[in-house]
Amino acid sequence: KQLGIVAVGFSLGQGKIGVDAAPKALIEAGLFTQLSDDLDFTIHHDGKVHDYCSVIPSSDPPLHIAGGKAPMLNPRTVSNVTREISKQVYTQAAAGRLVLTLGGDHSIAVGTVSGIHKAVTERTGQEPYVIWVDAHADINTPIVSGSGNIHGMPLAFLTNLASAPKEDPEVFGWLENTHKIDPKKLVYIGLRDVDKAEKKILREHGIKAFSMHDVDRWGIGRVMDMVMEYVGNAPIHLSFDVDALDPLWAPSTGTPVRGGLTLREGDFICECVHASGNLVAMDLVEVNPHIEGEPQIVQGLGAQETVRAGCSLVRCALGESLL
Ligand code: ARG
Ligand code: MN
Ligand code: MN
Ligand code: MN
Repeated sequence: KQLGIVAVGFSLGQGKIGVDAAPKALIEAGLFTQLSDDLDFTIHHDGKVHDYCSVIPSSDPPLHIAGGKAPMLNPRTVSNVTREISKQVYTQAAAGRLVLTLGGDHSIAVGTVSGIHKAVTERTGQEPYVIWVDAHADINTPIVSGSGNIHGMPLAFLTNLASAPKEDPEVFGWLENTHKIDPKKLVYIGLRDVDKAEKKILREHGIKAFSMHDVDRWGIGRVMDMVMEYVGNAPIHLSFDVDALDPLWAPSTGTPVRGGLTLREGDFICECVHASGNLVAMDLVEVNPHIEGEPQIVQGLGAQETVRAGCSLVRCALGESLL
């Protein structure tokens, strides 16, 4: 059992510092030991939390897009960094390893999903499905985004709904067709804070989505039956934004939304994906240990509890079972 790990200390896909500190916090909480000792993985990790400072430009002004609501923030930085991540993830996956990426904010998925799509398609001839577990849809184009934060846009670039902007074609100009996914091979779970323009995109492209309403109606068991039936026997890339969990369980995140998944529902999603035997990659993103979160049941322990929840999700996806 070979596991490639990429630790990404990157926060510039959104505005709050601290999400870059997540890999260190997860590692210090014992994640690698749990994966090697308890789950018997051989870990391939370069021993670093990458900051990508060598590819971050010294000046990166907001990019105004014709007809756009808000300028793209840190566009060249996010583009350059995700290009590096894409290469790192590609190399790990091309070696036949399961790839775990520890973020970082969700903009890093431009790198992980592209690198995995290319490597797995080349290696197996099968295109992976992406299961995106999140409170948010992260599919705003630079034109419709209300915030300009690129962590709300990764799926627009990955699905070809958005391409390198003509105002600066260098921005995501590195994305090739071999990197991009078919919107029909994307499934969401946990949505509850989707922007109006994103809802239109989901509808018009027939993108499969299970919101919190569906989880309430069917229960997580039937939702996962439907998700796994939709995905069939294809390889799976699981991109898990910790804000899919209710802030009661994961308060330390930049854009918390109430009414989310319980920790057990999150773990159950991961267990079902593991049980398919088809997991090729997992991302865990948006853990921000610098945010304490609103005082709730884990008062004073927000960061520690969020990190603990993150470790649990990863262990479940990688094969930990209750019995
Ligand atoms: N839809 C909002 C935006 O585009 C929020 C995105 C939050 N994304 C995330 N990865 N937490 O700015
Ligand atoms: Mn989110
Ligand atoms: Mn393809
Ligand atoms: Mn997200």
